[in-house]
Amino acid sequence: MSRLDIVIFGATGFTGQKAVEEVARGGKDYDTLTWGVAGRSQDKLESLIKEVSKKTDRDLSKVKLIVADVKDEKSLKEMCSQTKVLVNCCGPYRLYGEPVVRAAIDAKTHYVDVSGEPEFIETMQLEYNAQAQDAGVYIISACGFDSIPNDMGVVYLQQNWEGTLNSVESYLSTYVSPEYSKEAVKSGTINYGTWESLVYGLANSNKLPALRKKLFPEKMPSYKPKLLPRGALHQWGGGYCLPFPGSDNSIVYRSQRGRYEAGYRPVQFRAYVKFSSLMETVLLAFVGVLLYAMTRTKCTTKLLLNYPRFFSGGMVTKEGPKEEVINNTHFEFQLVGKGWQKDDDIEATAPNKTIIGKVSGVNPGYGATVVALLHSALTILREKEKMPGNGGVLTTALAFWDTTLIRRLNENNLKFEIVEKK
Ligand SMILES: NC(=O)c1ccc[n+]([C@@H]2O[C@H](COP(=O)([O-])OP(=O)(O)OC[C@H]3O[C@@H](n4cnc5c(N)ncnc54)[C@H](OP(=O)(O)O)[C@@H]3O)[C@@H](O)[C@H]2O)c1
Repeated sequence: MSRLDIVIFGATGFTGQKAVEEVARGGKDYDTLTWGVAGRSQDKLESLIKEVSKKTDRDLSKVKLIVADVKDEKSLKEMCSQTKVLVNCCGPYRLYGEPVVRAAIDAKTHYVDVSGEPEFIETMQLEYNAQAQDAGVYIISACGFDSIPNDMGVVYLQQNWEGTLNSVESYLSTYVSPEYSKEAVKSGTINYGTWESLVYGLANSNKLPALRKKLFPEKMPSYKPKLLPRGALHQWGGGYCLPFPGSDNSIVYRSQRGRYEAGYRPVQFRAYVKFSSLMETVLLAFVGVLLYAMTRTKCTTKLLLNYPRFFSGGMVTKEGPKEEVINNTHFEFQLVGKGWQKDDDIEATAPNKTIIGKVSGVNPGYGATVVALLHSALTILREKEKMPGNGGVLTTALAFWDTTLIRRLNENNLKFEIVEKK
């Protein structure tokens, strides 16, 4: 039996359904694709297909439905054996991800997901990289808003730079169109699955240093000038900036570490999030500290999980945000790269050139995310010969460096551009 091109697992979840809608809508990228949906309930899968069919006005009767449960390894292996690439939307990944990765490797199936959980992602690299290489499959996490804009954004700057790029600092800003901001406050902007992943991630963040020691027993040399953190709060570009709490620092570090191991000078990277009002910035910093403090005990962690709406200041709901709100949420990463032009003496002179790139789009969590995820899967299907080696657990930058992924994303409203070189 020939394999489907892709199967979307966790299709009945909030993100999974958005991925199904994106493929169902069709277009030149998807029309020739053979695909299926998978989840733990046949009834839910049937209702999903009915709903998406109605919403997109497409006949989806030929879409294959596969029942698979994370708790049943046999069902996972059977699911993976039916596809070339598994698109895994089933998270939190620290709870549900590992058996799926194992099944994908066993079935010799490529795998992509939208995890933003460094502990899961780095554990997969530590435990399964060699097995994935032996099986000849690519296991690639963080193919969504975490962390394609920053990881591929740094690649984009590197590919548009003639010389040596020393550092990149990234500034993320988001806003909801004013006419939808009342609805955003009323119905929230984030689905519970992301909150759950964040809370578990914070609760277990103390495990990361030991994991990283095992993953990278040898330190990378220190490159000069060293890119220092800018502290808890700083001003840049007319706004107030806090360190970005997502997985992007860890993902870009792994990408650049991979580049270093391949014999290239790595780029130093730091991510920030930018706000226009000082009050909002201070309030969010306070919420961040409170969340972290609450994840120090099991009892307060439970409170966070049980009362997401309250502790997220109304942003997180179990029903998920309204379509009109997410479709009118805009984001922009400004990536500021510094380094030397070709033939400069990088030991004797300070960095003297700057490049500014921008990665922008709408609907970061559920629109840009599923576009980036699905195009990562399509890139494996269609450009495997341009990917490095024979598989492995890789970051997006390492996997897709030589492919046309950025061009594909540009054609699909996730825009990469160079705005200034000086
Ligand atoms: N990187 C990014 O930018 C980004 C953006 C969005 C989401 N995410 C991540 O994506 C993940 C999912 O988020 P979400 O909001 O879509 O969550 P969600 O709506 O809760 O979806 C979770 C999915 O997992 C499935 N599931 C749970 N237990 C299972 C089991 N034992 N066997 C099979 N399936 C099982 C659920 O199936 P049922 O429907 O049967 O319950 C559901 O389909 C989270 O980790 C989130 O952080 C990342």
